[in-house]
Amino acid sequence: MNKVPKKILDEVADLRARIAHHDHLYHTLGEPEIPDADYDALLTRLVELEQEHDLATPDSPSQKVGAPLVRQKQSAAKVEVKHDPPMLSLDKVSDEPALLDFETRIHKRLEAAAAEAAAGTHAKNNAAPLDYSCEPKIDGVAVSLLYRHGHLERGATRGDGMTGEVITHNVRTLGDIPQYIPALKQVPALEVRGEIFIGKQGFADLNRRGEAEGGKVFVNPRNTAAGAVRQLDAESTARIPLRMYCYGIGAAEGLALPDTLDGAFGLLEEFGLPVNPDRACRRGMTDCLNYCLDLLARREHLDYEIDGAVIKLNCLALHRVLGSNIRSPRWATAYKFPAEEKSTVVQDVQFQVGRTGTITPVARLEPVFVGGVTVSNTTLHNMDEIERLGLRIGDRVIVRRAGDVIPKVVKVILPKQKAKQKPERRKKITMPRKCPACGAVVEKDGVLYKCSAGIVCPAQRKESIRHFASRTAMDIEGLGEKLIDQLVDNGHLSSIKDIYTLDAVELAAMDRMGEKSAANLIAAIDGSKRTTLSRFLYALGIREVGEATARSLAEHYGSIPAITTAGQEALEQVPDIGPVVAQHIVTFFANKGNKALVAALLKQGISWPDITPSADIKEGGAERPLQGQTWVLTGTLEQMTRSEAKVRLGSLGAKVAGSVSKNTDCVVAGPGAGSKLGKAEELGITIMDESAFLQRLQHFAKQSKST
Ligand code: IVH
Repeated sequence: MNKVPKKILDEVADLRARIAHHDHLYHTLGEPEIPDADYDALLTRLVELEQEHDLATPDSPSQKVGAPLVRQKQSAAKVEVKHDPPMLSLDKVSDEPALLDFETRIHKRLEAAAAEAAAGTHAKNNAAPLDYSCEPKIDGVAVSLLYRHGHLERGATRGDGMTGEVITHNVRTLGDIPQYIPALKQVPALEVRGEIFIGKQGFADLNRRGEAEGGKVFVNPRNTAAGAVRQLDAESTARIPLRMYCYGIGAAEGLALPDTLDGAFGLLEEFGLPVNPDRACRRGMTDCLNYCLDLLARREHLDYEIDGAVIKLNCLALHRVLGSNIRSPRWATAYKFPAEEKSTVVQDVQFQVGRTGTITPVARLEPVFVGGVTVSNTTLHNMDEIERLGLRIGDRVIVRRAGDVIPKVVKVILPKQKAKQKPERRKKITMPRKCPACGAVVEKDGVLYKCSAGIVCPAQRKESIRHFASRTAMDIEGLGEKLIDQLVDNGHLSSIKDIYTLDAVELAAMDRMGEKSAANLIAAIDGSKRTTLSRFLYALGIREVGEATARSLAEHYGSIPAITTAGQEALEQVPDIGPVVAQHIVTFFANKGNKALVAALLKQGISWPDITPSADIKEGGAERPLQGQTWVLTGTLEQMTRSEAKVRLGSLGAKVAGSVSKNTDCVVAGPGAGSKLGKAEELGITIMDESAFLQRLQHFAKQSKST
C-alpha cells in the first residue's frame, strides 16, 4: 500500500476536527457559526481525501449524519428518541451531469437487482423513464411526528439521524399540525417526517415586532427555527411563527401505505397534515431538471427559503429495492442551488465618493460565489451599519445575496479565541477626515459623511458625468466608467458640458479606444442631444430627483424656465414632490454654476419635443384620473420595477408617497409587504395586489385612448 503523505493526513485530521466542531455547534447547541455552504465544502473535501487515499474510518464525521447529542447541564430535562428507520440525509448534486449520473446509477442498480431477482417487474423495460417526486428543499429543521391512534404523541428532532430529542411541547405550538387525526383512530402508529421552518413573511414580522418592542432581532429564519424547536419553554416557541411541510413517512403500523410518494402526499393531505403545494411529479431526469430550474427561477418569490430541490423516485417499492447507504438513501438526491449566504473575508474597506459628495464605505471582499454570482465588493452603506455589525478589516463575515438584491454583509463571524490570539489582524474602520478623491474636509450630515468640495471634487465630477451619460439618463453608449476616469484625469472632461466638445482624435488616443470606437462615441454623443425633458432633468443629477420625479416635473411644467421659476410652494403641488425634494430643486436652479451648465448644454443643441404641460389640463380629466391622490407602493413588484410603477402613477396624476397615513388613497402591496400594509389595513385604506394594479392601469390606458 502506498504511504499517504503527511500533508494529507494532517489535512484529514484538521478537517475532521473542524467538522466535529461545527457539528457540535449546529446539532447540539443549535448555534451554527458558519453558513451551510462552508460546512458542505469541508465535508466534500474530507470525503474526497478519504476516498482518494482510502482513509475512511467508521468514526469519521463523513460516516455520520450529524454530531452526537451531547447531554448538556441545562438539558437534563431533554429526552432522547431512537429513530427507526433512521432519519437520513441526502446526497447532493449541483449540475446537470451529476443529476443525470444519479439517474444512470438508479437504472444500473435496478437492472442489477432485476437480474438478480430474474423476474422483477422493472426487468423488462429498465431503460424506460421513471417517475420522480420533485420537491422544494426547504432550509429548515427536520422533525418527526408520531401519531398513535390519531393522537399526536411525540415530536422529535433528527439529532444525529439515529437518536433525536423529544420536542413534543414545541411541535404542539404549530397551528399547522393537527393534534388529533380522526382518520387514524384505528391506526396504532404513523410517524410522519418533514421540515419545520419560518416563512419569509413570518420572519420579517417577527423581527419587526422584535425591533418595535426593543427585543431580539434574528439573523436568519433557519437558525431561528432550529433554536425555537429545541427550546425548553414552549411559551417562547409559540411566539415564533413556525410552520411545517411534511415530506415522508417513517414508521407505520396498521396502515396500508400507497404505492407511490405522490400517493403518500395525498394521504397526508387527507389527514390534514401540511404538504408542500410546490411539489410536482415528473417523468425522467430531463423533466426533473426543468422542475429544478423552474423552482430556482421562482426561488425569490416563494414565501420560504430553499437551498435546492429534492428529487425522489416516486415508486415506494423501488425505494426498498435500492435501499440506503449509511448517510443517505439511493433513491433520492438533493439538487443544490447556489447558496445565498457564504462566508468570506473583508480584506479592506475603501471610501467611495458619490455624485452628491456622500462618502460610502465599500468592503473589498475575498471573492466569493454567492447567490449565483462572484462578489468581490459590496457597500456597507454608512458608518452606523459598520458599528452595528461590529465589523473590522480582516474579519470573516457572512455575505448574503438573494435574488437580484445587492449583496449584503449580514454578520461578522468572530471565532472568539482566534480574535483574541490575533488582534493585530483586525483593523478598525474609520471615516477619513479628508475626501479620498480631492482632500477636502469631510463633513458629517446625519448618519452620512460628505466631501465639502462640491463639483470641483474629481470623484463627484466623475460620478455626475457617469450619471449624466447613463442609460436611463442621456443614454450615451460607450461613455463608461473607465473612459470617464481617464478623460477626467487627463483633463479632457472637467464638466458635463465638455462631453459635447470631446474630440475624436483625443478620444481615439485613450486606453482601449481606437478610431472606430471614438467615431461611434462621437455619434452617440451627438444622438443624445435629441432627448426628452424628463431624461434631461434626471440627467442633471438634482438631489432626490429620480426618474419618476423628473417625469412628473417634465409633464407638469413642460419646460426648463417654467421649472426654474416655479418656486418652492408651487413645486410641492406636483405629484411625487414633497417639501424636501422641492427645496433641492429650488437650490439646484438657484446655483449660478448649475444655471450656467444648463444654459451651456442647451446651447450645445440638446432639445426635446414640445410637451403640453399637464398643469393646464383639467384636474381629474381622462389623462390624469388619479390627480390629487396619494399612493404607496410596498413589497416586491414582479411585473414592473418600482420606478416604472412610480412613473405610471405619476403620469396618471397620483403622488407616490413613502409612508402610509390617513391621506393615503391606495396601497399597492406585493409579496414581502411589511408594516406599511399593516398600517393600511389598520386605517381601512384600499389595498390592491399587483395584478389588480395592472388591471387598473390597463383600464386607464383604455379610457385615455377613447377620449
Ligand atoms: S427527504 C431520506 N425532502 O434536507 C430522505 N428532505 O439533506 C430524507 N429537507 O434532513 C429527507 N426539504 O431536513 C427531504 N422535501 C424534502 C426536504 C428535505 C428539506 C431537508 C431535511 C433533510 C435534509 C437532507
